[in-house]
This record gives sequence, structure tokens and C-alpha cells, in this order.
Amino acid sequence: MEARRLFAACLALSISLSSSPACARVVVEAVRTGPSSATAPAAMPALRPGLAGPAGGLAAPSLSGSLTLPDPVLTPKAGSLATAVPAAVLAAAVPAAARPVRNAADAPVSVPKAATAPGERGAEKDLGQRLVELGAELEKARTDGGGSEASVLSRVFTGAANASGASAAVEAVEPSPVRSPRALLDGLLVSVFGSHNGRQLRTLQPTIEAINALEGAMEKLGDEELRAKTPEFKKRLAAGETLDDILPEAFAAVREASRRVLKLRHRDVQLIGGIALHKGMIAEMATGEGKTLVAPLAVYLNALTGEGAHLFTVNDYLAKRDSEWMGSVYRFMGLSVGLIQNGMGIEGRKKAYAADVTYGTASEFGFDYLRDNMRVDPAQIVQRGHAYALIDEVDSVLIDQARTPLIIAGLSGGPVEPYAIADRVVRQLKVRVMTKEDRANGLERDALEEGVDAVVDEKDLMASLTETGFDRVAELLGVEDIYTGDNSAWMHYIRQALRANYLYQKDVHYLVRGGEIVIVDDFTGRVMDGRQWSEGLHQSIQAKEGVEIEPETKTVASVTPQNFARLYRKLSGMTGTAASSAQEFAKIYDLEVLTVPTNKPVIRKDYADRIYRSYAEKIRAVAAEILRLHALGRPVLAGTVSPEQSEELSRALTELGVEHSVLNAKHHESEAAIVAFGGRLGAVTIATNMAGRGTDILLGGDPHALARRAMSDGTAPAAFGADALAEARAEVEKMALYGRLEQGTDPDAYARYLAAAKAVTESERERVSAAGGLAVLGTERHESRRIDLQLMGRAGRQGEPGSTQFFLS
Ligand SMILES: Nc1ncnc2c1ncn2[C@@H]1O[C@H](COP(=O)(O)OP(=O)(O)OP(=O)(O)O)[C@@H](O)[C@H]1O
Ligand SMILES: [Mg+2]
Repeated sequence: MEARRLFAACLALSISLSSSPACARVVVEAVRTGPSSATAPAAMPALRPGLAGPAGGLAAPSLSGSLTLPDPVLTPKAGSLATAVPAAVLAAAVPAAARPVRNAADAPVSVPKAATAPGERGAEKDLGQRLVELGAELEKARTDGGGSEASVLSRVFTGAANASGASAAVEAVEPSPVRSPRALLDGLLVSVFGSHNGRQLRTLQPTIEAINALEGAMEKLGDEELRAKTPEFKKRLAAGETLDDILPEAFAAVREASRRVLKLRHRDVQLIGGIALHKGMIAEMATGEGKTLVAPLAVYLNALTGEGAHLFTVNDYLAKRDSEWMGSVYRFMGLSVGLIQNGMGIEGRKKAYAADVTYGTASEFGFDYLRDNMRVDPAQIVQRGHAYALIDEVDSVLIDQARTPLIIAGLSGGPVEPYAIADRVVRQLKVRVMTKEDRANGLERDALEEGVDAVVDEKDLMASLTETGFDRVAELLGVEDIYTGDNSAWMHYIRQALRANYLYQKDVHYLVRGGEIVIVDDFTGRVMDGRQWSEGLHQSIQAKEGVEIEPETKTVASVTPQNFARLYRKLSGMTGTAASSAQEFAKIYDLEVLTVPTNKPVIRKDYADRIYRSYAEKIRAVAAEILRLHALGRPVLAGTVSPEQSEELSRALTELGVEHSVLNAKHHESEAAIVAFGGRLGAVTIATNMAGRGTDILLGGDPHALARRAMSDGTAPAAFGADALAEARAEVEKMALYGRLEQGTDPDAYARYLAAAKAVTESERERVSAAGGLAVLGTERHESRRIDLQLMGRAGRQGEPGSTQFFLS
């Protein structure tokens, strides 16, 4: 009853919000296409990681019985750096002993090469060779600090297959690791607030000591005895002890379970994070510090009440990854784990919510709540309450997306013709776009109205007609005027048609797929399947793109993530970027931020921005920089702002002969595989901010993904020493016991592949680290600094080497 009243309140609130411009973009889920239908397509087909991705596998067994390394990336193909690089450039970057001993087609890439006629083979090789030399020259120009980068760059491009020959005029800022004024300010803020934070941290010290003191005793327990702690804790809770009372023992037990099944022992800073999460705070822990592993501490403890603990992730990929990865820890301790994915049916959802711990995205949890409130048949209700929620990437959920309402919509059956007519009308108008720069320069809208029919505003996404525009529209529609009587209804259609045509770009804000408009989420770079824009915008975009216009929908039920999160009795969150929003968290959610120190200092190098005169020059410079880093053997993650931009960069790289993978809303099927191999020697990955949060790109690659791929390819694993094999066998045995080994996999065979894969990834990890680690390049700066920091946070994790740089124009 209580929940229903709250729901009504939320509904009222979100309706009032949805009329404000800030809520112009809402997430609508039409009842018809809702994920509750069992037949709805999953946003991410369940694929076996490593299978759908880049080609390649482990090398064939060598006769000597020693490890045979596959050639990492630089394949001998047209225009690529293949043959020439290892000798010329890699020599400088990797130790001799670690160099590839044979070639194999194992490039972690999936993008086809530029087509070339067979007769050009000789020329291609020369081109590849030349590019390598240019790459080395670029490197030299960079390290010598000379101003010759521009000339080298232009030669890189005039050397490339289809380059126009125009020289790239570059205004390069000498890259040196810098702290931007903003970073300095952040530093100052930390020192100002540091004292309070420091006191908080000190108060936790005795608890940390208590947990550490229990470590020896936990280590001595057998697996069964350790698991028996769960019913024991439950009993003690029933007898009147509190969660706080049993926290030290529960945390010590989870740490020991994790050590046994994942071979990861929680560090003290992770215990601190766990306590903060249990206390209903936000734990700010730097990117890559291991928050995924922190979560089970608090989630296990809070799930002991039996009311269900929910872990929110920002996307389906992370929900799946984390529920599988951490699932073995929960299962080892005797708790059940459920996973909600987009497109799942009611039965699957019920089962997932019945588990002790449930992983899923905030919008799936929110939509399930809305649908539950609409059910007439109680047997169809899937959630069983809102006791404890831990929100990963909490700033994304509770700040960036907080006020975008989740809406369940029904068809209203309004007319669709006016949208098509309005679209034709606005195409004949003279329209001026008020850009964000115009705004920043203090330009007034009035000043832009001269000589045009309409002005659209990039910043607040609004559109309005000028005096002459009103007359022109009336003329085109063949009506007297558009202010009076029924005619005034046209204003709505015209305004939305203007927004659709001038403010919403195909392949940036949405994709056209199979006759449907699919929204791309600005913050996560992902497609939002089955979702629509509200208030006729979706219909206007359908008209613009010439696809079938569907009748408008009306809101049946709605809730904002903000209001939904507040339903939970205890709420907590974690992220790498919370401090700058601490006030907002405190005011709106009553959540306090605790900044947890890093385990090891961050040694990542953040280079100064490089600024170019034009957009085209910038893209070319990014491609050239990728070529240089690729030639050094460093893996590169290039973060772009839209699918369109990622494809432009992809074309530039293809021109240069650099093989790469593209991860964006258009190509997201092999996400797990692309991420799994994104850290291999010289791997190049272009991604929108899809890869900006939460992704963990392992230097040298993920051995499990490599093992799975080789196994499914049928490549025989190399033979291994007894020790490595025994170790792999022990690991696989645990995986099989605690539900992490894929169904139907032969554990013994998998262990052999895993041992082989580990030899490859470990060797590559050393070489990648020696070469400087993962390089993150950004093609633009996001309005929200937190988004940039998240992208940068893919590099230099766990105190590893890495670098970042942004390219602006
Ligand atoms: N205690 C530990 N010992 C060794 N390695 C660890 C430990 N905890 C985490 N790691 C490793 O650290 C890496 C990063 O972990 P994770 O992705 O959880 O970081 P994160 O804090 O969630 O980062 P992000 O903010 O980017 O989401 C993983 O590869 C994980 O295996
Ligand atoms: Mg994370």
C-alpha cells in the first residue's frame, strides 16, 4: 500500500517535471514493445565472449613443448605496419626475449582493410614500410621536443593511400604531463575538504584492524566451514545482533572467499570502501581501484537479511560481467545471484529478483517497478521490495540521468499527417542555429533573428519562429495565420519539426535501423532499444527520416531514477568521480561522499590538450598519433563522441593501414570481445563513451577470453609445464564449482587452454607495460568533466603505466 502511495506521488512529480525543457528528453517505453514481452529482442545477444570478436587464437602446439607466441598485432597485410615494425620500432620498446617468434593471423581487429588491387602489392609494402619510418620520426619529433611534428604529420598523410596531398597544418601544443587549472582546483578542494574526509577515514581504522585480525582464523577454515558462516550470521541476526555487529566477520569471510575463488584479496582501502557502502554512503574510489570487488563486501552483508540486495550498473554489459565475475564469491558463500538483462521475460525476472543478490541496470530496475505497479495479477509482480541498493557509477545514475523520467506509454492514436506536413514546411524555412559558442560569447537570440524564419538553440534544445517565420509558415500551410483557433495546434508540430531537423543528428543522437528510430544515449553512448522520445519529437524525427510515423504515445506510468532510488530503505553508491558533486548528493539524496585513497599512486601521464585549426585536421592528427603509438606496440583506446565520429576516425585509420576495432552503438555485438582484447600489444580500439565507464581493459588481454576463443576455434593449445597446468586446473575447478565455467565446457581441456592463454597474455602484459601501457586519446572534451575523467580512467589503472591526451579543434 505504502509503495503504491509513493508511486502515485512520483507519478505526479514526474509529470510536472516532464514539461520543463530539462526533461525534453525522456525515456519512453511503449507498452507494446516493452521488455516484459518474452519475445522482445535482447539489446545484447548472449554471446560467448571472445567468439564474435576479432579473429585469432592460440598458436599450434610447438614440437619443443615450449610456448609458441602468436604474432600479436602487426599482421603482414596491405598497408599495415606488419613486417617492418618489430625490427625497427618494437626493438626499442620491448625486451628481445619477449618478441614474437612466429607470425599468426592473430590481430585483435575486426575492421576490413581498404581494398587494393592485387597488382599494387609491392607498392603496399613500401607504403607500410614508409609509414613505420614516419611513425618512428613522429616519435622522435615528439620526444626531441622539436617543432617538426607538423611536417612529419603531413608526410604521414600524403603517404597514405587516398590522402588528398594537402598538408596537415598542425598547431601542436608540446605534450608534457600537466595539471590543468581545473585539476589544480580539484587538488585545492581536496585539501580543503580533506580534513573532514581524513577524520572519517580515521574513525574506520579500528574496524579495518578488526577485520585484519580475523584473517588468520578465516584462512584456517575449510571451504565448507567458511560457507557455514552464512547460516551462522543469519542466525545471529535473528537472535538480535545487528549488521554492524557482524560486519568485521562478514567482511573477513568475503575477503577469504574472494581470495579462494578469484585469487583477489581485498586490500585495506577496499575494506574502507565496503564499510562506506554498508553505511549508506558514496565511496569515491579512483577508476580502476577495484570497486567491482568492493561491492560484494557490503552487498553480502546486507543480503543476509534475506530481503534482497540490488546492485545497479550503468549498462547490461557490466551487469552481466559483474554478476558472473562476483557471482562466484556470493555462490561460494551460499548466496544466490540473479541477473536482469534488457529483453528478459517475466519468469526470468522473477527468478532474478528472488535471488539474494540481483544485478541489473537502473532503468531495468525502474521499469520493473513501474510495470509491477500496473499488474492486476499478483503472480506477475517480479520485485519483492526495495531494501538495499548499491549504485555503481552513482554519479551517472543519480546525477546525469536522474531527471530523465522512465515512462511507460500507451498509444494515444493521435493523427500522424501533421508531422509529415510540418517536416515539409520547415525544410523550406530559413533557419539559424544558435550554437553553444554563440551562447558562450554572450550573443542574444534576438540578434540572430534578422533575416531568418526561425532560430534553434543548441544549448537548451529549443526552437522558435521569428515574426517573418510566423507569416511564412502560414503561407506554406495555406492558412490565414497560426495563432488563432485550431491553427495554433500547428505551432507544436512546427517546433518539433525544427528540433528534429536542426538539433537531432542521425548517427549522433539516433540511428535509423530497420525502419525504426533508435535513440543513442548521450551519456553512455549506447542504443536504448524500444525507447522513444516524447511529446511528438519521435514522430517528427520519423518524418524527417522518411520512415513510418507511428502514432504518439501517452504516459501511463512514470518515475525518474531519482525518485526510484529514494524508494530504497538503504541506498549507497560508488564511482571514481563523486567529489565534485558531493553537495548535490548531500542535498538531494542525503548521501555523504567518502573519498578513499588509492592503493598505489597513479603514474598515468595526462598530456596537455592538442588544438587544431579544423575538425578534419584534428581527426587526421588523432589517426597519426594512433599510428605512432601502435608502432610502439602500445594499445590505444580512442574515445569519440558519436558513432559518426568513430566511423570517420575508422576511415582515417584504414587509410593509414592501421587495423582496429570499432565499438559504438552501431557495432556493439562484440563488446565483451573487443574489451577483452583491447589491451593487447598494439591493439587499437575506437569507442564512443560506451567504453567510458566501468570497462576494465587488461594490459596484455584477458586470458579467459583468449582461452575461450582458441577453444571454440579448435586451435590446439601449446603444451605446458606441470606447474602452470596445475595452477590453471585448480582455478578452473573453482570456476566449475561456483558457476563461472560456461555450461558444457570440459574443465580439463579448458585448463590447458587457460594455461596457454595466460602465458600469452602475461608476456604481452610485460611488453605493453614496458612500452608505456594503454594510451587513451579523446577526440573532444565532454561538457561534463566527469565524463572525460571516466574515459581517462581506462588507462593507468592499479598503478599501471598509461597516458591520456585530448585533441580539440
Ligand atoms: N584486491 C585486488 N588485488 C588485485 N587486483 C585487483 C584487486 N581488486 C581489483 N583488482 C583488479 O583491478 C582491476 C580494476 O577493477 P575494477 O574494474 O573493479 O575497477 P573500478 O574501480 O570498478 O574501476 P571503474 O571506475 O573504471 O569502474 C581489475 O582488473 C581487477 O581484477
Ligand atoms: Mg567499475
